Amino acid sequence: MNNEEIIAKHPNWREEAKELDISMVRGGNKGVKSKVEIATEIEAHLAEIEEANRVVIPSAEELVTWERTLEVIPDGVQTMSKMPARHVSPLYPTYIDKGKGCHVWAGDKEYIDYPCGLGSVLLGYADDRVNKAVKKQLDNGTIFSLPHKLETVLADKLVELIPCAEQVRFLKTGTEATMAAIKIARAATGREGIVCMGYHGWADWYGITTDKKKGIPMSYSKLSGQCTYGDKDMVREMFSLSNVIQKEVAAIIMEPYVYDADEDFLKWVIDFAHDNGALVIFDEIVTGFRTKGFSAQEMFNVMPDLTCLGKAMANGIPISVVCGKTKYMAEIQGDCFVSSTFGGDLIGISAALETIKILEAEPVIEHIWAMGQRLKDGFNEISKDLPDTKLTGLPCRTFFETPSELHRTLLWQECIKRGVFFGYAQFINYAHTEKDIDKTLNVLEKACEVLKDNWGEPNKAFDEGVVPASATVRHR
Ligand SMILES: Cc1ncc(COP(=O)(O)O)c(C=O)c1O
Repeated sequence: MNNEEIIAKHPNWREEAKELDISMVRGGNKGVKSKVEIATEIEAHLAEIEEANRVVIPSAEELVTWERTLEVIPDGVQTMSKMPARHVSPLYPTYIDKGKGCHVWAGDKEYIDYPCGLGSVLLGYADDRVNKAVKKQLDNGTIFSLPHKLETVLADKLVELIPCAEQVRFLKTGTEATMAAIKIARAATGREGIVCMGYHGWADWYGITTDKKKGIPMSYSKLSGQCTYGDKDMVREMFSLSNVIQKEVAAIIMEPYVYDADEDFLKWVIDFAHDNGALVIFDEIVTGFRTKGFSAQEMFNVMPDLTCLGKAMANGIPISVVCGKTKYMAEIQGDCFVSSTFGGDLIGISAALETIKILEAEPVIEHIWAMGQRLKDGFNEISKDLPDTKLTGLPCRTFFETPSELHRTLLWQECIKRGVFFGYAQFINYAHTEKDIDKTLNVLEKACEVLKDNWGEPNKAFDEGVVPASATVRHR
């Protein structure tokens, strides 16, 4: 800047100098400063202040190391399924940076992804149409102090699509939805006991049935029990005021299937519960919108009393649902307290409406079942000579079965090195193509060769530092 420009920039130089405490006279007896000198000093002062106030935010790349993550986030993760111990550490990437379709990237390394955001990504990562619907909603506001009409539009759609849904409440996480369903069932029956079958989140009535009991009042252990899917005797036992559940059972909450589905068992459970004064809650947090007909209750033609939905329903954007028959849902109009600020959040609602619109218009569910079947058949053919090594489960969610964690770790080690990312459960999304599946099968073929060559002692073929990937805690 030349002198004229500096003066022009500070037309109120007298006031500015005063405010900044800049003296207008020279030290000693040397007279007053010129306008240019004062304006130049003002400039220098302002630059100093700006520099002192400059906030330097390090980029994630500069700041983040796994050590730092562990210092500021317990276990370094927000959900157990993401713990490094669940994967082949240290070969799996520590962080995922971005995803698109069926691919994820860690730095510039690209993977074909099968955990699909723990089952929540149904159309594909960062789906353009869902993103567009959400961005439109962002511009109009996403949360208000009165209901929004889109809440009714989505509730209406769920009443149309989910057989037992006559009324609907929106929440944010799967755990909230199952907590609400249990509360409604207890309110409606006046009973306290809960029979669980599957995984239902981190609420105390479920946590007490797992190994992670710390922080839960021990008295809860008399109220909940876990049954094995398909085991009728175990269910009967839970209802007999046995040592496990010492109160009358309010509800059986179950995933309608995890591994193979048993339609007769589903029918039996519903009849048995009703004959014994209990309700049946289907936890369709995973099966909802991945199963033919949008829900397992539709596919198997059975009618629970209440249902929980979440995960894939909005392609991974947070929203969950408790829905069911009006005579039970009406409990939350009374003194049964279910209430959440973000229940009416329109990001989740607009994402769910767009996802469901696509599901109704396009063969999404058929596609994920076909691709899942291709993966399952392909792997089971490749692994047919390896004892007890197969993909099990229905095509929309499959699981690797191996004789041991060591065998599975070696299999996954050889896959991750070749760009295929497997997790505890393998989901498919709409973006997985036949080409992706076939590429995956090629990788699995190579991995099985390594596994076969090291069958007796798979850990001998572990890369440096690899520790066995532990199985997740999940009841069958
Ligand atoms: C069947 C089922 N129910 C409930 C939950 C809990 O959902 P969230 O983790 O969103 O609380 C999960 C999570 O994986 C689930 O798979």
